[in-house]
Amino acid sequence: MKIIVTGGAGFIGGNFCHYMVNTYPDDTIICLDKLTYAGNLETLEPLKDKKNFKFIKGDICDRDFVYELCESEKPDVIINFAAESHVDRSVLEPDVFVKTNVLGTQVLLDATKKYNLKRFHQVSTDEVYGDLPLDRPELMFDENYKIKASSPYSASKASADLLTLAYYRTFNLPVTISRCSNNYGPYHFPEKLIPLMIQRALNDEPLPVYGEGKNVRDWLYVLDHCKAIDLIVRKGKVGEVYNVGGHNEKANIDVVKIILKELGKPESLIKYVTDRPGHDLRYAINPEKIERELGWKPETKFEDGIKYTIKWYLENRPWWEHIISGEYQNYFNNMYGKRI
Ligand code: NAD
Ligand code: TYD
Repeated sequence: MKIIVTGGAGFIGGNFCHYMVNTYPDDTIICLDKLTYAGNLETLEPLKDKKNFKFIKGDICDRDFVYELCESEKPDVIINFAAESHVDRSVLEPDVFVKTNVLGTQVLLDATKKYNLKRFHQVSTDEVYGDLPLDRPELMFDENYKIKASSPYSASKASADLLTLAYYRTFNLPVTISRCSNNYGPYHFPEKLIPLMIQRALNDEPLPVYGEGKNVRDWLYVLDHCKAIDLIVRKGKVGEVYNVGGHNEKANIDVVKIILKELGKPESLIKYVTDRPGHDLRYAINPEKIERELGWKPETKFEDGIKYTIKWYLENRPWWEHIISGEYQNYFNNMYGKRI
């Protein structure tokens, strides 16, 4: 198989490229990435000499470019990770979220149709379901849960999902969608909760916890997500949505305390800051469908995954220090300058 992986220089797409290139030497993986602030070629450095891997810089919104790529490479499959992915940035600048996440997805759907590709897989998120209350632990998102996005980010992802399903219904396009909970692991851009807290704790800087830190996220180790996507692309039923999650709900403040304990740093570093506008309270995925129909199960327990992730950040300081010394610094000041 020849697979175009869009957004492969980002966190999950990068981990996916590593997994696919090393697991399937007979498949060819072509990473297409615009290299926005979130794309980092250093993530793909270990793959650069692999015969079954190629990197191409480009924008999924650029129709001519995407069509030319499909003509020259003749891929079988497109897996779309490319997105603007940070909720906080979507509060500051929604436009680019609609452009990349909605219009970019449409270009890829059109390319799938025009070049008769065997599959288009949309990497989506549990955030399209909105949030759950904190006091109803029995409630979880299944695939039929109503779409009720809260942020410009999740609204743009929900729009892309609807478009993808509409192309299935209208054009019989061979599509699948995965909706996963929050991921953590290596190569996670250090503006998201877990890598941000690790690097700031290592530098003995205050850890900004939004509101009271009670919001709950359902954490999944990134490799488990990559394996789920691979399984859906190979064995999933077209036109179907699969939720992906590992029943691992944690309040933000508990995650932060675990990180501090692992690093031997004091809880006095915690700094409660103004809450995120429209902050979703709780996410919780019901993954029964993918477990039952495709036999997927998460393999990494949070207790092990978080230790491994912290170790990775300790052993790969240059990877995140290079990010922090660049544009990230300006972003950080804009976002937190008035809060801390
Ligand atoms: P990320 O921000 O780390 O990476 C996104 C990548 O897309 C970057 O490499 C960026 O350069 C690239 N990109 C952005 N705009 C582009 C464009 N117009 N054309 C081509 N490339 C472009 O994101 P991530 O955390 O790796 O998330 C990947 C996907 O998974 C996203 O679609 C996201 O919605 C989804 N998702 C993420 C999580 C999570 O916890 N991070 C959970 C569920 C789903
Ligand atoms: P984030 O990693 O941005 O993922 P998402 O918003 O997509 O779930 O945030 C995870 C949780 O951590 C979310 O409830 C917001 C919270 N958070 C903080 O408390 N402080 C921070 O500095 C960040 C980035 C997030």
